[in-house]
Amino acid sequence: MKIEISREIERFGPIKIHGVQKVFELDGGLKNADNDEEYNPIMQRIAYDIQHEIQEQMAIVVPVRNEKIKLIEGVLSGIPHHCQVIIVSNSPREPMDRFKLEKDAIEHIGRFMNRKFLVVHQKDPVLTKAVEASGYKHLLDKKGNIKNGKAEGMILSTMLAYLCGKKYVGFIDSDNYFPGAVLEYVQEYCAGFFLSASPFTMVRISWHSKPKVVESNLFFAKRGRASEHTNRILNRLISYYTGYGTEIIKTGNAGEHALTMEMAMQLDYSSGYSIEPYHYVNVLERYGGILAPPSDKVMKEGVEFFQIESRNPHLHEVKGDQHVKDMSLAAMEVIYHSPICPPALKANILEDVHNRKLLKKEEDIESQLHYYPALYSADFKKFKEELKNEEYAPLFVQDVSKYTPREKDKKLMRDTKAAKIKEIPKEGKLEVK
Ligand code: GDP
Ligand code: CO
Repeated sequence: MKIEISREIERFGPIKIHGVQKVFELDGGLKNADNDEEYNPIMQRIAYDIQHEIQEQMAIVVPVRNEKIKLIEGVLSGIPHHCQVIIVSNSPREPMDRFKLEKDAIEHIGRFMNRKFLVVHQKDPVLTKAVEASGYKHLLDKKGNIKNGKAEGMILSTMLAYLCGKKYVGFIDSDNYFPGAVLEYVQEYCAGFFLSASPFTMVRISWHSKPKVVESNLFFAKRGRASEHTNRILNRLISYYTGYGTEIIKTGNAGEHALTMEMAMQLDYSSGYSIEPYHYVNVLERYGGILAPPSDKVMKEGVEFFQIESRNPHLHEVKGDQHVKDMSLAAMEVIYHSPICPPALKANILEDVHNRKLLKKEEDIESQLHYYPALYSADFKKFKEELKNEEYAPLFVQDVSKYTPREKDKKLMRDTKAAKIKEIPKEGKLEVK
């Protein structure tokens, strides 16, 4: 792949947010190709072999709920062979066992591809027990089952990816119509990791376009309906502290994103569809220098966000207006209820949700989402022990001790949500070091 370097970089304490980077060539050739061209300081070439090395250390998570099996098959066919695919499904098992059908179909194509997919159901009692044993009970509902929701499925699969010993974890929605786009996203994840200088990195895809039929012609829309608003508010949040207007964030709602495992372990998450915008909010909360940072290592090494613009159009299932509204409201909620959200921005968000009729005029944005503290508080040894008899256990690595918390580390853990800033300074007054 050949990709331009980022033109703009927004810095916020130790956080670097790279502006959107364009892909110029999808295939960058081999590392030591004979006809290598001269070094070009504004273009980066990520050779095939490098992509491959990263893919071998990457898990790709595919969350599923009630998607067409043909769509899921297409998505799987686009994921490079050496990535470990983890499919977490929350499809209903009653009256018909949809999950059984999915698993059967996935295993069937797995035979042709000669690869082992890790397929689980979000409500699997064995997994539920394992989550409980790990001490990460935040994922469980009152009845003791793993909660519904895309974010909850993603958190669970991040834990599984960790047991597989993967250094990177990426997410690809299962309702994507173009396998070629899926392949491209994974390559872009690799490109971001290759370009990053920090072990705490996130890569987010900004689609080039979303095709729609408008007056019986194909129209390639630049952004999704919810994204525009989410991006604008996130950018305002940043400008508030830096004192400079910015449009750096273009991927507030990016479902397609990947993280280094180190980063995945250090982030707090929020529920449902709010998880993606919350990545930005939480990194700003945790490491932006406003609240007390929970990890010195992250403060030293820094966090990098890459936003890469894909070439393939993004075409996924149309889920209707209400779905987009819910998603947009959830995004607004995580910003609105963040301890770092200044009153002026809160007023702005409220006005926006009323204007867009996401809420009635007199309604306030209630706090309905759940928050999940960073995963490093889970005991992965115990999590693995409970899963040792599962058919996918051979995919796990021997030593999972890296993040197993010791008593001394437990004391260091802080829940960012509980943190309070005494007073939010007036616009432009706060200096972020
Ligand atoms: P959008 O593309 O962001 O509008 O949202 P989608 O409804 O397409 O959901 C994104 C992905 O998450 C899709 O692959 C869904 O099948 C999947 N998904 C949605 N809800 C859940 C859930 O509760 N659990 C799991 N595991 N996946 C879910
Ligand atoms: Co979708």
